[in-house]
Amino acid sequence: MVCVGVIGGGQLARMMIPAAINLGIDLRVFAEAEESSASMAVSHVGDYSQLSELEAFAQNCDVITFDHEHVPIAHLEALQAQGVRVYPPPGALALTHNKIVMRHALATLGVPQPRWAVVESEADDDRALREVGGFPCVAKIPVGGYDGKGVRVIDSFGAIADWTAAGPVLLEEKVDFRRELAQLGARRPSGQWVPWPVVETRQAEGVCSEVLAPAPGISPWQSAEAESIARSIAESIAVVGVLAVELFGTTDGRILVNELAMRPHNSGHVFTELSVTSQFEQHLRAVTDFPLGSPELISGIGVMANVFGHVDDLLARTASERFPEVKIHDYTKAPRPGRKAGHCVAVGSDVADTLGRALAVRAILHGENYDG
Ligand SMILES: Nc1ncnc2c1ncn2[C@@H]1O[C@H](COP(=O)(O)OP(=O)(O)OP(=O)(O)O)[C@@H](O)[C@H]1O
Ligand SMILES: [Mg+2]
Repeated sequence: MVCVGVIGGGQLARMMIPAAINLGIDLRVFAEAEESSASMAVSHVGDYSQLSELEAFAQNCDVITFDHEHVPIAHLEALQAQGVRVYPPPGALALTHNKIVMRHALATLGVPQPRWAVVESEADDDRALREVGGFPCVAKIPVGGYDGKGVRVIDSFGAIADWTAAGPVLLEEKVDFRRELAQLGARRPSGQWVPWPVVETRQAEGVCSEVLAPAPGISPWQSAEAESIARSIAESIAVVGVLAVELFGTTDGRILVNELAMRPHNSGHVFTELSVTSQFEQHLRAVTDFPLGSPELISGIGVMANVFGHVDDLLARTASERFPEVKIHDYTKAPRPGRKAGHCVAVGSDVADTLGRALAVRAILHGENYDG
């Protein structure tokens, strides 16, 4: 039996468990705490910043992969030097650890992206501002941002004085986008690449709120462009596993890369119900170099809505009675306002109807009045 070790015990590791069972994979999770989303597969509780703990965990695994991107790259390189298979490889994963490193790499690859510049001291301000086309622009801390934390739209450098005091800051032009998209696909070490259709992601206050798949009304040119961007990134940096490329579809019809993730991603949850192969199954197939599954869709449209705060059992029962065909996923996390606690997925043939059912279930789960 192949043993896959997953570093991180969050919802992504949790959702790999059913796929591992079906594929006959022994899944072992390295979690930070006993009480984690993936607790039923946890074999080690510890600190992933300690190389010795990673080494002990990796000893019993055929391949190491990830639920998050916080493990120091130097530790992963050390594991690799000891003969441990680490997928995605540290050299590729490094692009997801630091948004400045990612912008440099994408520029080298010639991938279309927003205009960007790095501010390291006040002396850089004028040049950087010219490069991104002036205020308002978007400032980002290069490391550790998530769910829009670490992203600010700014009108002055005073607004990021706290960040510039701490280190380099990435500036980007404020992209005039019509909508946000995400292209997901998976790549095996032997090179096989299998993409899903491009999806539309909708964010509220910088956090993904809904995903519509495939992106409604996408032109054949745009979907081909999104797929070719993702494939060229995956091939040139030798990604292994699922690659998610967050994209802007601009008002003038271009596609620009926002950021990358090299693991199952929030924008791909919809494929669990919508596609023959879920992103969790595809990730496990890829990192074990098993032939990839079909990305074919089994319904015309799928809509995923994130559930924030808490998934309450009574409300989930009410929602499931009214909408038994909509699937509710509960990450079993401790309740916290604004936290992604779960998601629901509806599939169908009509965009408005499918979106309506996903939003209705979320409204019930959020305890909002719903009269539909
Ligand atoms: N250059 C930009 N121009 C316009 N809007 C932007 C730009 N960069 C980011 N945004 C907006 O902010 C959101 C969050 O940005 P980004 O994806 O870089 O941050 P994050 O915190 O790493 O996100 P995630 O939730 O994916 O972890 C984007 O989805 C988009 O809505
Ligand atoms: Mg993002």
